[in-house]
Amino acid sequence: MAVAATGVEERLLIGGEWVEASSGNRFDVIDPGTGELVGSVPDAGETDVRAAIDAAAAALEGWKALPALHRARILRRAADLIRERRDMIALVMTSEQGKPLAEAAGEVEYAASFFEWFAGEAERVYGQIVPPMNPANRVLVLRQPVGVTAAITPWNFPAAMMTRKLGPAMAAGCTSIVKPASATPLTAALILRAIEDAGTPPGVVNLITSRSAGMVAQELFSDRRVRKISFTGSTEVGKDLIRASADQVKRLSLELGGHAPYLIFDDADLDEAVDGLIASKFRNAGQTCVCANRTYVQSGVYDAVVAKLAAKVTKMVVGHGIRDDVTIGPLIDGRAVDKADEHVRDAVAKGARLVVGGERLDSGEHAGGSFYTPTVLEGVTPEMLISTEETFGPVAGITRFETEEEAIRVANDTVYGLAAYFHTRDYARLLRVAEKLEYGIVGANSGIISAANAPFGGVKESGYGREGGAVGIDEYVDVKYVLVGGVGT
Ligand code: SIN
Repeated sequence: MAVAATGVEERLLIGGEWVEASSGNRFDVIDPGTGELVGSVPDAGETDVRAAIDAAAAALEGWKALPALHRARILRRAADLIRERRDMIALVMTSEQGKPLAEAAGEVEYAASFFEWFAGEAERVYGQIVPPMNPANRVLVLRQPVGVTAAITPWNFPAAMMTRKLGPAMAAGCTSIVKPASATPLTAALILRAIEDAGTPPGVVNLITSRSAGMVAQELFSDRRVRKISFTGSTEVGKDLIRASADQVKRLSLELGGHAPYLIFDDADLDEAVDGLIASKFRNAGQTCVCANRTYVQSGVYDAVVAKLAAKVTKMVVGHGIRDDVTIGPLIDGRAVDKADEHVRDAVAKGARLVVGGERLDSGEHAGGSFYTPTVLEGVTPEMLISTEETFGPVAGITRFETEEEAIRVANDTVYGLAAYFHTRDYARLLRVAEKLEYGIVGANSGIISAANAPFGGVKESGYGREGGAVGIDEYVDVKYVLVGGVGT
């Protein structure tokens, strides 16, 4: 059996140097599966953040002047290095984040794929020559890098959410400051080491680890040289960032909370639907913004779906992610367990039936960790917390519906709009439902929608901007129109 990582010491990356915080302070990184120490990182303060911005600003002109092909080569090399180091990065990720090793290795591959994808896009940042209204003029449209950017990244996908932001930023010719979540800074540092080892010039990408996310945000938002900030995290924090962006009209991309509906129609392939639901709901122990949070099953197949789901969920193995047989790792911390448990207790108190799970696990091999059993609830109704709030844990709540119209209405009845899923074998229904769901991402007959070549992002209070896909690079490009007069015909 693998042994969780311990004694991992990382530093800040500023202007190509791996350094301590100027205060000398560090903070601990804890294994959510044991409560034990994995390692530590510097606790950066204002001076360090300013130094990182200085470094990114100093590197900008040289980086954007490089031919796109050159930046693309560096991104491809970084992708290769991330893949070569996959097992080591995955072990550190499992140790600080909790997800099972196989999932962590999958995330490392996913992270590398963003660099590969954007290496290709780097060479396709095309402008336009527009036919002029006045024949004596010429009209050019240029697409130029926005400048210094910052990436504030979450703990649930500590590698992939970072490369999803850095890939397009680097490809477009922007420089960056990365602030990873304080729970998972070690994975971030390993990804930055690969970027550096790939030959990225000093200052193009800088790493700031800090326990004070508010201070880092304050520094980034108040510095006019930082032209764009990309954030993945909660809707609550996203709204604060929108307010903070107003002073300097700073550009933002926000990938915020989700509350995904998962619809299973009577005509669905039930095995495929249940497998899709499991993949969506229980990936990363339910700690994804795109995971199913509300499951709606049509009356005719309701009992069969509940039974099939329960049979599979009962077989899931909860434990430390380094064990080969584990399918559900720990949640990120005790508060996450409290929230999952609160949603289950609230639903049961309001009349839902607990089919499987609903337990905290905190003794024996689970002692010291933050574990919660994968759970299935049925008979869930709209007034339950699980129907209105993102659970971010391994709890599937099932609700019965009768008609397609009703399913679409309940699915859209939320302030969120990140991802939605449905299963049907009726292709006319497939098109109708896909068009009517008010979401940025729709999985039709599939519970897994994430891919580097597709645009990822939400509508409504799930944020704005798109990451990945051909449009992902637009977030890091400014469009400039140049009118050249007096050219003649
Ligand atoms: C997320 O949950 O924020 C991202 C999930 C993904 O990219 O698959």
